[in-house]
Amino acid sequence: MLLIFILIHYITLASARASLQQDEYCFVACQQILRGVRFNNTAPKTGQPWPACGNELEFTSLYLCNKLYCTDDERRRGIDGLNERCRRFYNATAPPYSLIDGFTGDEILELHHLEVGELNREAPSIHNEVLVPSKELYGLAWDTLDAAYFELDIHIIYGFAMYYFWVAVVSIGVISRLIRLGLNSMSPMQAWQEIPSDPHIENSVAKRIYHPYTMLKRYITVPATFGFTHAQNIKWCTVPTRIQSIAIAAFVISNIVLCSVSYHVFEDNLYWPNVSTQVWRYVADRTGIISTANLALIWAFGIRNNTLLWLTGWNFATYNNFHRWVARVATVEAVVHSVAYTVLIFENGTWSAAWQVYADYYQSRWFVAGVLATVFMVGVCAFSVYPLRRKLYEIFLFLHIVLSILILATMWYHVEIFNGDYSGFIWPCVFIWTFDRLSRIARMLLFNRRFWNTQAQVTYDSTSNIIRLVVPYSTSFIKPPPGTFYFISVLNDRIWESHPFTLSYSTSNDTSSPSSSLGTITPPSRPSSLSRSRGNSSESQTLLSPSQSETPPASMVFIIRPYNGFTSRLRSHANSSSTRVLIEGPYGETQPFEKYRNVLFIVGGTGIAVPLSYMDTLLKSSSTTSIKVIWAVREHQFLHDAIIRDFRGAIGSEKLSLEAYITNDSGVEEIKDDLGLKVRIGRPDVFQEVEEAARESGGRPLAVVACGPGLMADETRRAFVQMLERGYGNVEYFEESFNW
Ligand SMILES: Cc1cc2nc3c(=O)[nH]c(=O)nc-3n(C[C@H](O)[C@H](O)[C@H](O)COP(=O)(O)OP(=O)(O)OC[C@H]3O[C@@H](n4cnc5c(N)ncnc54)[C@H](O)[C@@H]3O)c2cc1C
Ligand SMILES: NC(=O)c1ccc[n+]([C@@H]2O[C@H](COP(=O)([O-])OP(=O)(O)OC[C@H]3O[C@@H](n4cnc5c(N)ncnc54)[C@H](OP(=O)(O)O)[C@@H]3O)[C@@H](O)[C@H]2O)c1
Ligand SMILES: *[C@@H]1O[C@H](CO)[C@@H](O)[C@H](O)[C@H]1NC(C)=O
Ligand SMILES: *[C@@H]1O[C@H](CO)[C@@H](O)[C@H](O)[C@H]1NC(C)=O
Ligand SMILES: *[C@@H]1O[C@H](CO)[C@@H](O)[C@H](O)[C@H]1NC(C)=O
Ligand SMILES: *[C@@H]1O[C@H](CO)[C@@H](O)[C@H](O)[C@H]1NC(C)=O
Ligand SMILES: *[C@@H]1O[C@H](CO)[C@@H](O)[C@H](O)[C@H]1NC(C)=O
Ligand SMILES: *[C@@H]1O[C@H](CO)[C@@H](O)[C@H](O)[C@H]1NC(C)=O
Repeated sequence: MLLIFILIHYITLASARASLQQDEYCFVACQQILRGVRFNNTAPKTGQPWPACGNELEFTSLYLCNKLYCTDDERRRGIDGLNERCRRFYNATAPPYSLIDGFTGDEILELHHLEVGELNREAPSIHNEVLVPSKELYGLAWDTLDAAYFELDIHIIYGFAMYYFWVAVVSIGVISRLIRLGLNSMSPMQAWQEIPSDPHIENSVAKRIYHPYTMLKRYITVPATFGFTHAQNIKWCTVPTRIQSIAIAAFVISNIVLCSVSYHVFEDNLYWPNVSTQVWRYVADRTGIISTANLALIWAFGIRNNTLLWLTGWNFATYNNFHRWVARVATVEAVVHSVAYTVLIFENGTWSAAWQVYADYYQSRWFVAGVLATVFMVGVCAFSVYPLRRKLYEIFLFLHIVLSILILATMWYHVEIFNGDYSGFIWPCVFIWTFDRLSRIARMLLFNRRFWNTQAQVTYDSTSNIIRLVVPYSTSFIKPPPGTFYFISVLNDRIWESHPFTLSYSTSNDTSSPSSSLGTITPPSRPSSLSRSRGNSSESQTLLSPSQSETPPASMVFIIRPYNGFTSRLRSHANSSSTRVLIEGPYGETQPFEKYRNVLFIVGGTGIAVPLSYMDTLLKSSSTTSIKVIWAVREHQFLHDAIIRDFRGAIGSEKLSLEAYITNDSGVEEIKDDLGLKVRIGRPDVFQEVEEAARESGGRPLAVVACGPGLMADETRRAFVQMLERGYGNVEYFEESFNW
């Protein structure tokens, strides 16, 4: 998609831009020099003003300059162009070139030769004679044009460099994804090397850890930038992973470099005599253009339906990081752009004169629009700070959208004066946004053509503080894939709010066995010891028998923790018979966990949705022999309900073992193992669990999947990296985040 937009850019810009070629400089340089003087406008013979396009002094001087410095061809084309303009604007023809036929070489040498100091565009001196530029002055004029047009081109080339940069980054992503897919299909992940048990492992470490892919995971792709804080925030900051930081840093550095190099400045430039003025001017244009070029990237990375997501397999959070950083860089560039132009206004002349100029600028729409665009860009960054995003998500989103529209509108009016030279940078944002909105509608329609009529069943249990949302999916074009998430809005109130929720599981469309799609699993008959906690022996039976759940067939189930906004209002819809929801999805990717021999889930609270989502696939997979779920859960009731309703008999499977850690239930003592189910009190020791799983995997492929509070995910990430250090190169880490 990005490539397509680059193409559109090229076409738009190539057709819109009329850059000056080097072989046109000569003629234009002569014209430019003569703009610095004025010729007497009274014709000596008639005493009348010269007719338009007919001042002989001026044209003689121009033609002599051409004769001295230009080739015949350059001159001819220049005069043709001039004549064209005379005809168009004054219905007149310029005097013929033969005007200077009478001048001999010696006579020309005798003429007044203009020097640099004689030019003054603000207050030109009036001449009664023919003038020719000195060689030095002509050289300066040529250099002036050369520098100015070089800068104009290089600004745009560097603007495009931003797209090439991300094309390169994304290509790396696509290639590594293809390599991974290729490797997986060639040698399945079961190809493993037996790792000796612990005492000897250290010996084989050297052999395994230096495997390039392991090294990559160990040092680049998995760890957070500094240490292991990734899922958690540090004060107002979120920390990207190392690989993301490398991409972001490279982007920031290339922006700084491209905004600081390739400035051709020199004294006595005909446009801006001072070097500092030239620098400010070029910096202003460079930052302005690169900032404008970056806009399309901000939109491309910020949307839900980002084609790059499935090209690279990187998740939304990764692109969200890119989105933020490109936006920050673009905003800084916009600010530099504005400051530089302000400096230019105030640079020469007194303050009061500068204020006058400034006030005059405020009369023009493009100027006001530019100032507003910078203000809005700063505003959108300021209103995206972490606390606002977290605490007042809806307000953040509202401001984000409104300010984004304002930015596009003001940017449009700001670049309008360039006759379409730069609107090629604005259009892609509009296209991308429209594409995203249309895709969202398409996804809604694909889920249910009669999108207004999806009746959901909402139940809330106050003991477990969990909402269960059951949505029929029979209208959907595709069966809900595991591990994906859906955006949900409630039609009955605040329809514009849509929130992401991970699909916990879906029931099959087969009405004959409504409770479970795992009909083959035989319920265990052994009594459970969980009962001890409640002193009630019937509970155990309930726990381990296949659920007689009331979940209707062909339904998706979402397990939702109510917070303060949307989710708390959803809670109030519980038991209401007519909760109609808008479902937009699926989003996200199904991970190939079923290819791993061992899968370890480390989840907290509603993070249980992730293992539940993959449960059917994993139980059916012939490659997977062991699924272990470590679940930290605050409410005993939540565990109880989940086992009865959501595991749908899976607990009885030999493959699955669930270790639940109840973190707030003083009433329960520690409970011993039971077939596939262990219940413990207190928080799980994440590191120990990962270590144990790695050891038990004995070097066979192991997927470690984390979905829980930030600290938990970060601890898992750290444990995983340490396992790599110990030589377990066949371990892979996955994180499903509930925060962006
Ligand atoms: C990919 C993904 C999957 C998720 N799956 C589940 C799930 O299965 N079960 C579950 O209980 N929760 C899940 N969540 C979290 C859920 O989206 C939020 O709890 C919910 O949006 C909070 O809404 P609220 O208005 O009640 O929260 P608030 O009290 O307003 O905010 C609570 C938190 O949710 C964040 N949040 C609010 N709205 C959004 C939004 N539209 N998008 C992203 N974050 C938001 C806020 O930043 C804040 O940190 C998931 C989140 C993501 C990103
Ligand atoms: N407001 C939000 O930002 C928001 C909204 C929705 C979902 N989420 C995320 O969704 C996930 C689940 O949400 P939830 O509300 O269902 O969670 P929850 O009820 O708070 O459950 C989290 C469980 O994980 C345990 N835990 C936390 N850190 C741990 C650690 N380092 N090691 C071991 N156990 C740990 C907790 O134990 P203790 O009881 O001892 O803390 C608790 O039992 C979390 O990632 C949560 O952050 C966040
Ligand atoms: C311009 O030319 C006319 C006629 O040759 C002359 O009278 C007049 O003084 C000139 N003006 C200037 C400003 O030199
Ligand atoms: C242009 O000038 C010619 C004479 O020089 C005249 O005949 C013609 O009407 C003019 N055209 C316009 C559009 O003024
Ligand atoms: C259930 O879905 C399968 C495909 O997943 C389809 O072949 C079958 O016809 C569906 N059955 C019913 C009753 O809709
Ligand atoms: C078990 O619990 C049920 C209700 O939850 C209760 O009716 C029954 O008496 C309890 N049995 C024992 C042995 O405590
Ligand atoms: C919903 O109904 C169930 C029983 O059907 C009840 O236990 C629960 O309290 C009700 N919840 C609300 C929010 O009304
Ligand atoms: C534990 O649960 C009880 C109610 O069951 C609640 O009052 C208490 O605040 C909870 N403690 C924590 C630390 O969440």
